[in-house]
Amino acid sequence: MSNSFKLCVFISGSGSNLDSIIKKQALHNYEVALVVSNKAGAKGLDFAKNASIPVFTFNWDNNDKDLTFVQNQIKQHGCDLIVLAGFMRILPKGFISAFENKIINIHPSLLPKYKGLHTHQQVIDNKDKIHGASVHFVNAELDGGKIITQTSIAVENNDTAETLGARLLFREHSLLPHTIALIGQNRVQWQTNTLYFDHNKLINPIIFND
Ligand code: GRF
Repeated sequence: MSNSFKLCVFISGSGSNLDSIIKKQALHNYEVALVVSNKAGAKGLDFAKNASIPVFTFNWDNNDKDLTFVQNQIKQHGCDLIVLAGFMRILPKGFISAFENKIINIHPSLLPKYKGLHTHQQVIDNKDKIHGASVHFVNAELDGGKIITQTSIAVENNDTAETLGARLLFREHSLLPHTIALIGQNRVQWQTNTLYFDHNKLINPIIFND
């Protein structure tokens, strides 16, 4: 596995996306080299420990504003891509620019709709018929980087934020590993400031509805 595409996955909570990323390592030919969390007690860290993946936890309220010590861990483990999978803090600008176009995030909405929190409830409140999740590159604007992939689901009349969120999470578990694989295979690539998919400019998100 030493030549494979190496990931650093950031989590803050239950880590079900991390679990799906770990389970699909062999299928998609990438390797989770490091898991980082701002919560030492995050339940999702068990998935990493059970798979013998190194874990690094840190206290968010520290004096190193650019998280240089986290940057060093990522470099030491030779990570090619940082994946935010349920990481509930906004990364500092200095950290993001140190890994320009090398950080992706999964967000539970059809961006650019519903940036930020409570996306499922907003879908219910606005009586939307369709909901979804997006994987995007991370830049300095919250949930505002270039969208790579999306998945969508129908909203049922009796849906609550909980039922909708659970159904969407199931889709996220395919969407994120698929997206990582596209980047690892160089099918999704930045050239200067433009994103390409299979050598064509990526205008609209790639859709994965499985
Ligand atoms: C997911 O819905 C993800 O889109 C959002 O946070 C949730 C994380 O869930 N950013 P989990 O920790 O992967 O179970």
